[in-house]
Amino acid sequence: MSHAIEKNKTSLAKKVLKFSAILIVSLLLLLILIALYGYRLGDVYSDLSKDTPSHSKVGEQVASRHASNAILERGAYLSKIADCMACHTTRGGAAFAGGRVMESEFGQFITPNITPDKQTGIGNWTAEDFWNALHNGRGKQGQLLYPAFPFVNYTHISRADADAIFAYLQSQPAVVQQNLEHRLAFPYNQRAGLALWRALYFKPGELAYQPAQSQEWNRGAYLVRGLAHCSACHSSRNQFGANKGSDDFSGGEMAGIRWYAPSLVAKHELNLSTWSSADLSQLLQHGVNRQSSVNGPMAEVVKASLQYLTDQDAAAMANYLRSLPPQEKAAPDFLDRAIARPTVSKEQMLQMMEAGETIYRAQCIDCHGKNGEGQAGIYPALKGNPSLQMESLSNPIRIILAGGFSPVTKGNPRPYSMPPFAPFLTDTEVALVLTYIRNAWGNQASAVGAAEVNPYRTASLD
Ligand code: HEC
Ligand code: HEC
Ligand code: HEC
Repeated sequence: MSHAIEKNKTSLAKKVLKFSAILIVSLLLLLILIALYGYRLGDVYSDLSKDTPSHSKVGEQVASRHASNAILERGAYLSKIADCMACHTTRGGAAFAGGRVMESEFGQFITPNITPDKQTGIGNWTAEDFWNALHNGRGKQGQLLYPAFPFVNYTHISRADADAIFAYLQSQPAVVQQNLEHRLAFPYNQRAGLALWRALYFKPGELAYQPAQSQEWNRGAYLVRGLAHCSACHSSRNQFGANKGSDDFSGGEMAGIRWYAPSLVAKHELNLSTWSSADLSQLLQHGVNRQSSVNGPMAEVVKASLQYLTDQDAAAMANYLRSLPPQEKAAPDFLDRAIARPTVSKEQMLQMMEAGETIYRAQCIDCHGKNGEGQAGIYPALKGNPSLQMESLSNPIRIILAGGFSPVTKGNPRPYSMPPFAPFLTDTEVALVLTYIRNAWGNQASAVGAAEVNPYRTASLD
């Protein structure tokens, strides 16, 4: 009897084992299939008839030293708006020679040399190879590239524009500078893993023209989602560093450098649908407008890239951005640091407000005003300022500690700046004055603890 039960048990165990083995093998097969799909994912450029010369040849001719000035000028403009130089140049290093370290939650990416040097740069690349990098996120040998290179956005760039950028880059001085390996943690240092990532998160292809929208709107979408890659910073990301695509403007913490790129659409953040076209174009081109100014990484973007926008392109971007439907809330971010926010009682809050007001009167009132009203075009108003009332504290803490500097641009040659207070205020004092300005004059937001301030003292500045 007990023997029979034993026998039944072992045969059941065997069945379970067999079933699990089949399940695991099928799951593995499925994973391999998905990865294979991701690996092969990409467009082949093939819209030319057989008897015309192949487009890559045309591209190579374009890319030769004889490329017309008009194309080189166009390439120079497009590469500025795409901000290629910012990532591919180190501080004080040769333009486009790479070597810039990009901090991320996976480790450090070190950008490659994209000057026309034949050994260490992209001097041996064809226009086809180049388009394949921008459009499909692949290197010259077909290897999968990391999405730290924003090909999720650049995939929208047209072939003609990619060729012009290539021609421009090939016309720049060749610089001999060996590429360095990325310093990434396992398993992120395995390029093969990118096959799965691509299958899940990458949709190659140009944007379809939306006939229901104006030509200007379509141009704006092309610039915002493609070349200018706004979503590369202004979106929340999951633990694999993926957002919801080139039109994800949900707001996100920037890994490693502790700045927050606010949501462009959430009602309590930037909500660009409520901005006037003039204010928006002005902010993008000059870095400042009637009520605000750009700081930190956005100041870099305006300085190196957006200030060169033609008026027409800036207006097109504003047109597209203003048409985005507002959303209730910014999406929660994987790196959201608001999670451990302290809860305080009413009495504690009153005490914090009193202590914070004392600091404000001593340190801030001269510029920002008795009622946080600021001074139009000089000192930003803190009353009603959305960047103070967001969940993320990154930007206001950063600015109070390290100061606020908008970029020098043609339209704003002598920007006003905010002095750094790191040497003069303790973590507790920063937390108190921030709690005060987040809750005075009708503002409303949570209290801030000293422990939240401290990590920003040592955060890297770019
Ligand atoms: C946000 C930073 C960033 C921007 C902006 C950026 N790149 Fe890159 N790029 C990278 C990183 C990081 C890599 C390395 C990717 C890898 O190793 O998988 C890279 C790789 C490349 C490669 C592949 C080079 C090679 O040797 O395999 C090319 C080509 C390239 N970028 C061109 C450009 C061009 C052209 C632009 C502008 C249109 C641009 N990049 C803008 C970060 C950037
Ligand atoms: C390299 C990352 C990065 C890119 C690319 C980027 N931004 Fe930003 N942006 C930020 C950060 C960080 C802030 C917050 C600092 C600040 O307020 O200036 C910001 C702030 C802003 C602001 C608010 C400025 C203010 O304080 O009123 C606007 C509007 C904006 N970005 C629009 C854009 C648009 C449109 C694009 C694409 C053309 C873009 N950004 C591309 C990082 C970026
Ligand atoms: C000397 C004048 C001056 C003083 C003093 C000063 N600020 Fe500022 N503040 C500025 C200017 C100018 C800016 C805009 C900086 C920029 O454009 O980059 C600014 C920006 C800010 C911002 C960012 C606003 C935004 O829209 O992003 C905050 C927050 C802020 N100040 C808080 C403070 C606090 C708190 C104090 C006192 C501890 C203080 N400021 C003292 C001049 C000042």
